[in-house]
Amino acid sequence: MRLVTESKYLRALVAEQRSNGNTVGLVPTMGNLHAGHMQLVTEARQQCDFVISTIFVNPLQFGPTEDLDAYPRTLEADKNLLAENGCNVLFAPSVEEIYGTDPRQQTTIHVPGITEKYCGASRPGHFDGVATVVCKLFNLSNPDVAFFGLKDYQQFLVIKKLVRDLGLAVELKGVETVREASGLAMSSRNGYLSKQERKNAASIYHCLQNTASALASGNKAFSELEAQAITALREDGLEPDYYAICNAENLAAASSKDRNLVILAAARIGASRLIDNLRLTI
Ligand code: PAF
Repeated sequence: MRLVTESKYLRALVAEQRSNGNTVGLVPTMGNLHAGHMQLVTEARQQCDFVISTIFVNPLQFGPTEDLDAYPRTLEADKNLLAENGCNVLFAPSVEEIYGTDPRQQTTIHVPGITEKYCGASRPGHFDGVATVVCKLFNLSNPDVAFFGLKDYQQFLVIKKLVRDLGLAVELKGVETVREASGLAMSSRNGYLSKQERKNAASIYHCLQNTASALASGNKAFSELEAQAITALREDGLEPDYYAICNAENLAAASSKDRNLVILAAARIGASRLIDNLRLTI
């Protein structure tokens, strides 16, 4: 596996692959890689000839009081994991390589509508940062297919709209969430959890499962189901940020006519803010 830190070398490698007729898959990450990321790499390898993974802790998507400085940076371990899993190139640029000397002067992208609720409301500016860096990574790596985890379901919809609105020539693939044995969704932020918090955090998935089975058995009392889950999360020591049953295509509050639903959850526990979701068709 090649480690590349400069955009011009990444572009040259991609151009070479393309001239050989190879398809390019992109797996954008912020590092501190785990089995969830490796699932993205595995699917990229299955679908594309040449796989690029990026590691970039993107300052633009962190708010002023968020964990940018504390965010785990584990480049050596990440490099080994990616190489073992058949990634061809790791692009790990500096902040200056991506944003120049003054990130505040960076042109940014705002995706309207879908960014306004849930994580967008709790983390102002977050999705502008995500859309900007993802667009930039697409431009630098010119992938045929880009792979994103569905744990960040709202992010996936934001990127889908970005691609459609700007006419970007990339196919998006959403990859299922990988879970620990307890059901807790794998996340780099799980590393902040104590042993007890980790146990309690599994409550998010149990609530999602309970809500999903109530919906599947015909219960359409959406607000009541949301309130029950919020109570259960609090009883398990979590502070819910939101818990919402939504239309899976546009994240509008679910109506009794909707068939494709997503249950979105975000909750704080200790120093972590965790998100998860469950999608179902009723
Ligand atoms: O999901 C993530 O890890 C990040 O938001 C992404 C897509 C790599 C952009 O920085």
